[in-house]
Amino acid sequence: MQDDFRTIIEPFRIHSVEPLRMTTPQQRSAAVRDAGYNLFNLHADDVLIDLLTDSGTGAMSRDQWAAIQHGDESYAGSPSWFRFLRAVQELFPFRHVIPTHQGRAAERILFSVLGGPGKVIPNNTHFDTTRANVEFTGAEAVDLVIPEGRDPALFHPFKGNLDLSALEQLLSERAEDVPVAFVTITNNSGGGQPVSLANLRGASRLCHQYGVPLFLDACRFAENAWFIHQREEGQERREIADIVREMASLADGMTMSAKKDPFGNIGGWLAMNDDQLAEQCRNLLILTEGFPTYGGLAGRDLEAIAQGLQEAVDPDYLRYRIRSTAYLGEAVAAAGVPVVQPIGGHAVYLDARSLLPHIPPLRYPGQALSVALYQTGGIRSAEIGTVMFGRHPDGSEQPAAMDLVRLAVPRRTYTQSHIDYVIEVVLKVASEAPALPGYRMVSEPPALRHFTARFEPV
Ligand code: F0G
Repeated sequence: MQDDFRTIIEPFRIHSVEPLRMTTPQQRSAAVRDAGYNLFNLHADDVLIDLLTDSGTGAMSRDQWAAIQHGDESYAGSPSWFRFLRAVQELFPFRHVIPTHQGRAAERILFSVLGGPGKVIPNNTHFDTTRANVEFTGAEAVDLVIPEGRDPALFHPFKGNLDLSALEQLLSERAEDVPVAFVTITNNSGGGQPVSLANLRGASRLCHQYGVPLFLDACRFAENAWFIHQREEGQERREIADIVREMASLADGMTMSAKKDPFGNIGGWLAMNDDQLAEQCRNLLILTEGFPTYGGLAGRDLEAIAQGLQEAVDPDYLRYRIRSTAYLGEAVAAAGVPVVQPIGGHAVYLDARSLLPHIPPLRYPGQALSVALYQTGGIRSAEIGTVMFGRHPDGSEQPAAMDLVRLAVPRRTYTQSHIDYVIEVVLKVASEAPALPGYRMVSEPPALRHFTARFEPV
């Protein structure tokens, strides 16, 4: 513990390094033009600091690499599977754990069983793949985050909370159409904001009153538990793992991307208590993912995740993790750049709509800002706004609730000097904001358009 000092250091030292490739502004302008002004289309070695996502991009620990050597690749009943199962159930003691290759595979299997036309699935805010997997079955995805969660500048300790009165209204009107309710911890699309235990208890009570199962989308469960530990009355003395177990106890199941808090480069799972649902899901798993003791993962992946789960709930790590994200966010906010407040767990969300008022939402201010961050400093970010969420199943296009640019911080990967550089680049781009152009989409796929659409400046 370093209680007497201001600087919260990285609680690790570097054991193996990866080179970064420097590029010039001219090279980057050419690269982003060739990419159709979509940062997903860039070659990653043309990126200097990659804040596109915190998914699968974290640095694994020495102990995870060592665990990989224990990977047992037996098709069925591998010891690596049993180690994974124990590590998952230690934190999330659901009766059935179904491994998948990543989070969206768990979503696809669950919603294939529970979704379908006429069904409606509430969530605080659906992540893009979650929404797409719900809508792909013909069901409707509704976002019921508290009103505070839609106002970027407003401070609230648990801005990811579900609006319990909106949930109650939905359930009282049409509980029979709601096969499952979700809470995403932390609320990624709403700014990486946490959900309180009190809110989860309320959601659990309501769902159970109406006979609807409650599931967690738990990718960032450890960061959520840390916020509960720091911010919720009476939680400051509890162990993180204990808070996680209480979150799990309030739910009937979960979907998980192990590429986030569990430090996997790949992996995920689906878990639940319901025997019949588990059987239906396992049958689908075997069809497309694999046998239920590996579900699309190698034994070595199961080992890396099992070890990563233990590291994810270490308080020294979580203190550094949340503080280092806040360090970036607070620095740019202090210089007057509008950001989602308070700073989230895994990412800083720049409020592009507010920084670029001359660019209307349907000219994609988030896209404009993310392209400029790349051209100026080689930083890759992700638009979370009208490009991602503006197209609706009926074909119409409308502005998203917010136009944000997410700077997602990969776990244990970048040092403070990398982040200091990011701060400088953001401030330079912000100072030139009035000169940035908007964008027009020149091609888009039928779903999840942000991954492959192409743009032109206007
Ligand atoms: N749910 C949430 C809240 C997520 O953030 C993600 C992925 C998923 C589900 C899907 O998991 O990628 O393993 O299939 N989020 C990444 C991101 C991609 O960049 O935020 P996956």
